[in-house]
Amino acid sequence: MAYSEYKMWLQSENAAVPKVDSIIEERILNHWDNIDGSVERGYSGKSLFFKDGNICYDKNRIRDYARYLSSIGINRVCCNNVNVTERSARMIADDLIDDVAALAGIFREFGIRFIIAVDFTSPRLLGGLTTYDPYDEHVIKWWKAAAETVYKHIPDLAGFLVKADSEFRDGPAALGRTQADGANVIANALKKHGGKVYWRCFVYNCVQDWRDTKTDRPKAAYDHFYPLDGSFADNVILQIKHGPSDFQVREPNSPLLGAMEHTSQALEFQVTQEYTGQQVDLYATAVQWQEILDAPVSDSQSMRDLMGNKVKAIVAVANTGLDANWTGHTLAQANLYAFGRMASDPALTAREVLGEWVKLTFGSNPAVYEPVLDMMLRSREVYEMYTSHLGLGWMVNINHHYGPSPEGYEFMKWGTYHRANHEAIGVDRTEAGTGYTAQYHPHLNALYSNIETCPEELLLYFHRLPYSFKLKSGKTVLQHFYDSHFEAVEHVEEFISTWDSLRPHLPECVFSSVADRLLRQLSNAKEWRDVVNTYFYRLTGISDGQGRKIYD
Ligand code: GCU
Repeated sequence: MAYSEYKMWLQSENAAVPKVDSIIEERILNHWDNIDGSVERGYSGKSLFFKDGNICYDKNRIRDYARYLSSIGINRVCCNNVNVTERSARMIADDLIDDVAALAGIFREFGIRFIIAVDFTSPRLLGGLTTYDPYDEHVIKWWKAAAETVYKHIPDLAGFLVKADSEFRDGPAALGRTQADGANVIANALKKHGGKVYWRCFVYNCVQDWRDTKTDRPKAAYDHFYPLDGSFADNVILQIKHGPSDFQVREPNSPLLGAMEHTSQALEFQVTQEYTGQQVDLYATAVQWQEILDAPVSDSQSMRDLMGNKVKAIVAVANTGLDANWTGHTLAQANLYAFGRMASDPALTAREVLGEWVKLTFGSNPAVYEPVLDMMLRSREVYEMYTSHLGLGWMVNINHHYGPSPEGYEFMKWGTYHRANHEAIGVDRTEAGTGYTAQYHPHLNALYSNIETCPEELLLYFHRLPYSFKLKSGKTVLQHFYDSHFEAVEHVEEFISTWDSLRPHLPECVFSSVADRLLRQLSNAKEWRDVVNTYFYRLTGISDGQGRKIYD
């Protein structure tokens, strides 16, 4: 179906939806906005929706935003953070529901249904009950009553989003109940209103001991959820991050996606650039999404084949805020655009959607269009060259996740270890190691387990290898680290000269804001180069084969 036709029915929820396999019916944007006005992992200013504990927004701006989201294909939005606070939990209570309904009403005008993130402990937190046990009859009644109140105000609410048993948030496991017990008690309350529960699968042990080499965080989501296939209510959608770690620059696809036969699933992306440059460094997320969709899930299917079939919904964490250009880095606007477009048509390539954005934004003069598109298409690879190596990830400063810190997470509780010593690096996740690869389809298990067939960019995700291991290029792992860090800086320098050459063609404010970010990116890339190269030089005592400057 042509996009123009598709856009027409997008405007109306009730329009007959053509049955096309690749149509993903729910195209959802999650905001991680806090009710105090801050934005978790936000890099574009304060919240568009909240301020000082209240719902507070510029109505015109929200109308513009809703119209824009609708025009790129988004049809569901959640404005509050999955990390629900005591105050934002009240968005389903009497004191805030009128304001929530008014905000939902603006999105409704553009065919976008609202979702509210709720706290699983709400029956206790808001209802004053002594428990939030999903089997307790008062709890069951409490959720039903809460649903009645909310649907009275927002009759077309798409549902509740829940992050439970995750990163210090309580959930059913704390009471000895399963994830299905937890999701179902809310789903049952929403059912008669046509609502759904979007239940996040980001459940893992976040207080691991680095000395424990048996527990392997990437296994967690599958271990928790796969055995429950078939026990979730039919209005529960499991929301699964694209990778088993956490929105890293490079990780394999989550083995949970597509594995369950009887449970609706949503694929979750991040538009906001938490680990991918924080809207200072240029990073076109569409390139990564295309790779994710292209990746195999079995011997005959790719992730793209699951979209609109087993995977019924697609979600991304938004990158917008009150900054005048919406996204901090002007070119990061393309990431939101690309999400809407690829969610609407997962067959679109990164080149196509980024090309559209560049033309719509800067016009079709090839002197501008071609170099800007080229920079964007290369940006993911360049960022990966200086921040993430053969699938390692996590070498960032703790908490804020920006800038290099090779051992930042190494001795922490979060379960994110590369275990580098002077000889080797990486984790053996094959069945001889942590056993993670066994969660995949046998074809993929075999592919990833074999060093010869494992995609090289994921080599150290799946294997522990000596620095002297020879890659297909003939380079050792160590020389590959050194080279990619030196070359990445050269690529960023090229981005800067390309952008400088475009000055005559661009509005000055756009030119200078992007130029400023590129300079920050350059200093960032140099910092990564020097910190990471020195780290490996100190560990191994082996110099760069090309004799370039490595600090000791
Ligand atoms: C990451 C991120 C958190 C977020 C969490 C989530 O861990 O750093 O800020 O809350 O993901 O997806 O829930």
